[in-house]
Amino acid sequence: MEERRSVRNFSDRPVPKEVIENIIRAASTAPSGAHKQPWTFCVVSNPEIKKQIRKAAEEEEYESYKNRMNEEWLKDLAPLQTDWKKEFLEIAPYLIIVFKKSYELKEGKKEAVYYALESCGIACGFLLAAIHHAGLAALTHTPSPMNFLSRILNRPSNEKPFLLLPVGYAAENCLVPDIKRKKLEEVSEWSPS
Ligand SMILES: Cc1cc2nc3c(=O)[nH]c(=O)nc-3n(C[C@H](O)[C@H](O)[C@H](O)COP(=O)(O)O)c2cc1C
Repeated sequence: MEERRSVRNFSDRPVPKEVIENIIRAASTAPSGAHKQPWTFCVVSNPEIKKQIRKAAEEEEYESYKNRMNEEWLKDLAPLQTDWKKEFLEIAPYLIIVFKKSYELKEGKKEAVYYALESCGIACGFLLAAIHHAGLAALTHTPSPMNFLSRILNRPSNEKPFLLLPVGYAAENCLVPDIKRKKLEEVSEWSPS
């Protein structure tokens, strides 16, 4: 897992559909509150829909970078060299959009779900691990607010966009930011034995 990195430069090299299906199967083995599995993984490969998603995402990102993010946020992002432009949303062969269910809709009747946020977070962790295990790369992308994804993908009212993940092979010339991970001692506390 140490070798997994977020990638922002993708190749357009095709990825077999079966690989994406298996990645989603792996993600949906995640634990969830009362086993409600409150997620939907929407897969987009259609160039016209990818184009619509890129346009809407760039509009939100432009606004965020210019007007919504404060100085501290922009300073924290600076080493990653990101900006409002998101070409990768059209280049990556697949976009997986994870939707979080706030309740289940079964035959028009509402059913409760529990800890949907935690459950979807874990499922996305599984998803990222499976993508990496398959030799592919992804970016965990949050061009907020992400309501445009519900509109473009015509999702029902019980689902809210959670994460947008371009998935594919990393571009040959792909570089990633030179970041360091916190050490074990920094991220763990062991109670005295
Ligand atoms: C919840 C979440 C949201 C993120 N949103 C974005 C994003 O919108 N754009 C982006 O370029 N990276 C985004 N990232 C990626 C982080 O910048 C990246 O995970 C972090 O810099 C560590 O790099 P690594 O994933 O290569 O280990 C996000 C990551 C997480 C977990």
